[in-house]
Amino acid sequence: MKLTKLDFYDFARELVASGEDVIGMSTGEPDFDTVSSAAEAGIEAIRAGQTKYTAGDGTPALKEAIKHKFLRDNELSYDLKQISVSTGGKQVIYNAMAATLNPGDEVIIPTPYWVLYPVMVAMCGGTPVFVKCHSKDGFALNSEALEAAITTKTKWLFLNFPNNPSGGIMDRKDLEGIAEVLRRHPNVHVMTDDMYEFLQFTKERFVSLAQVAPDLYDRVLTVNGMSKGYAMTGWRIGFAGGRPDLIGAMAKVQSQITANPCSIAQAAAEKALIASPDHVEGWQKIYIERRDIVIKALNNINGIQAETP
Ligand SMILES: Cc1ncc(COP(=O)(O)O)c(C=O)c1O
Repeated sequence: MKLTKLDFYDFARELVASGEDVIGMSTGEPDFDTVSSAAEAGIEAIRAGQTKYTAGDGTPALKEAIKHKFLRDNELSYDLKQISVSTGGKQVIYNAMAATLNPGDEVIIPTPYWVLYPVMVAMCGGTPVFVKCHSKDGFALNSEALEAAITTKTKWLFLNFPNNPSGGIMDRKDLEGIAEVLRRHPNVHVMTDDMYEFLQFTKERFVSLAQVAPDLYDRVLTVNGMSKGYAMTGWRIGFAGGRPDLIGAMAKVQSQITANPCSIAQAAAEKALIASPDHVEGWQKIYIERRDIVIKALNNINGIQAETP
């Protein structure tokens, strides 16, 4: 049987359902329960009848909470016209590509990458261009390699650090190097996928590109979501901050496809984002323990060498 990545997810679930003791590792999904502030707010929203259509790209109340989150966690100031909410980070990224890509436009994707990126780019008529990240660099994107990949056709660079799947991160200095290159190429916009923001285990806090290089603010779409940091994969809420014209174009795409994300999930996300993310520290301890077990076990296999992400 030939299995694709998505088949793997279903296949593992079937095995678990039939009583097999297997762990599906194809999808990044916290096994923690949804943070309780969100769960309670979701139940409350149903009881309060918040079950109708909402504003197409997110309720003003959720956008306020996202504005607060961006400012609190990322020192980024976005007003409500600069914020878009979708059915998962997936849809945010897809909307941005659908709204901006023309045939022949190139999108630089550092490898290894989350499997959906090149597919989304291709579905929107763009051409993915891959730039290798290396284990010796901690899987960070090398600025010279980036510069060599940029052409006059480059429209977007995708950054995803902490990275799925490598676990690589880019610290302030790494991002400053990337910003230097981007300043020489004003045609390049950046989609920074910060979905794994809370899975950075270093002493230095996570930093995002627009935070490190405020002069590039207008060229950056900062993407994040509830799935990983709040264990809300099934609720399907993702969001982005960016230029109002881009955000407006993304809203138009969304309004023709799905319209608003689930009203109940939006109410839940709002409460979770307003609360400070204190749950993260406990989760990180558990993730670190698990990481260490897996890395040790992998390195005990003859012929496999795994760096600690
Ligand atoms: C790197 C990355 N970005 C975005 C997403 C999308 O997450 P969601 O659509 O659940 O918000 C995922 C999910 O696995 C991911 O791994």
